[in-house]
Amino acid sequence: MSLQIEKTDILIIGTGLAAVATALHVPSSLSVLLVSKGEATSTNSDLAQGGIASSYLEETSEAHKEDTMLASNQTSCSERVDILVEEGRRAIEEMERFGVRFDRDEDGYALGREGAHRLHRIFHAGGDETGRHVMRHLRQSLPDNVNILEHVLVHDLVMKEGRVVGAMAFQKEKWLHIEAGAVVLATGGIGGLVDWTSNAQTVTGDGLVLANRCGAKLTNLQRIQFHPTLLATEEPHLVTEALRGAGAKLVDPYGNDVMAHHPLGSLAPRDVVARVLTDRVGPIFLDTIGVTRLRERFPKLASTCDKLGIDLRQIPVRPGLHFHMGGIEVDDAGRTDVDGLYAVGEVAEAGVHGTNRLASNSLLECWVFGKRVAEAIQVKGRGFATSDVMAYDISPDTFRALRHQIGKWLTISPNHDEIKCFLQNTQTLTMTKHVTRQLSEQTLQLDAARLIAQSILEMERYDEHDLSTRTATTVSD
Ligand code: SIN
Repeated sequence: MSLQIEKTDILIIGTGLAAVATALHVPSSLSVLLVSKGEATSTNSDLAQGGIASSYLEETSEAHKEDTMLASNQTSCSERVDILVEEGRRAIEEMERFGVRFDRDEDGYALGREGAHRLHRIFHAGGDETGRHVMRHLRQSLPDNVNILEHVLVHDLVMKEGRVVGAMAFQKEKWLHIEAGAVVLATGGIGGLVDWTSNAQTVTGDGLVLANRCGAKLTNLQRIQFHPTLLATEEPHLVTEALRGAGAKLVDPYGNDVMAHHPLGSLAPRDVVARVLTDRVGPIFLDTIGVTRLRERFPKLASTCDKLGIDLRQIPVRPGLHFHMGGIEVDDAGRTDVDGLYAVGEVAEAGVHGTNRLASNSLLECWVFGKRVAEAIQVKGRGFATSDVMAYDISPDTFRALRHQIGKWLTISPNHDEIKCFLQNTQTLTMTKHVTRQLSEQTLQLDAARLIAQSILEMERYDEHDLSTRTATTVSD
């Protein structure tokens, strides 16, 4: 095997906001290499619509904390949420120093509101194209010590004397060995494991598998969030919750408000709304009659609907896989329990989201904890080591069939028999030492799905998923 070798102080796997926030804040004396599986812009952060929640303009961060805790049904870690909301108060001005410009109107910042937020505190840019705007400015601000390499699939992390010292990867089809003094996993969530998702298709839980292989602890992998409103068309597209914050209502074909029973109506916590919509028979629409200046405020949605011939006044929606709350267990500065390995953003379980993330807290998490990782990271000596991880020896057809199976159980109501069937089918696969990029990629996806499947089955108290126990009375405004 001919090896190309890259050397860097810090290897960051991912190019979304968690990766970029980390890279922007490490000392300029350290070299940083960011790698993306596809194009650098093919991330969930780039797709983000609603925005970034911050109590920047509030007197304290207390109300933001309360909403975060309430949305998660009090399952988030109080101390970590304190960090998120308190340090998050500075996020908006910090990003603006890097050239991001959040939307304003005649009264100042034009703040949005989303599910389970009692206040308008969501900063957005370019209307519903927040991710694209924020990421463009922040990537442009990356200093000279930071490089980005695209189309790099990390096959495995490599370890020496109990420490992560780099990665074996494919750059396009060729092997690439990356020696690093520290590795940060910022690979995002798991949505790309299924077709019906708001996520970029490249986001398939790779970081979970890489961390697991080198012994890092994973936690709460069964905690998966479904977004209530993806466009109910052939291709899934997110319809931002901010549209409901601006006055849109979820209605049945007769115009009845399907969330009328809840004190927060269509702005109830995301898990509650997604569950109600999933349990209903028949189509659901977003009635946008009450939304003023819709085209101006939601340009991305307007152009998508125009292209698809959808009437903007009555948008058909259905829930889809959106966010992974579980992940690699980290401390308050992204350290995993493996020397030299850090994790940040959606792939990490920093304790801030519990069983249900509050809307627009995810980009905030990336920023706050990315900075913390950058401040805490310890770069030690690099070393050469290789990986002997093999790949499943499967044909594209077998892989497609297994992915289809994943789509059947990775739903808001996972079926245990389907999960067991998937686990049995993958358990009997044979392995090959002749690893190609395609086999590596398929293996990462199947192993990520296996980890999640096992976690769902192992969960002692399965009722965490049974959100029917969470009634309107647990939510107050
Ligand atoms: C949305 O815009 O509805 C998604 C925002 C989020 O996931 O926080």
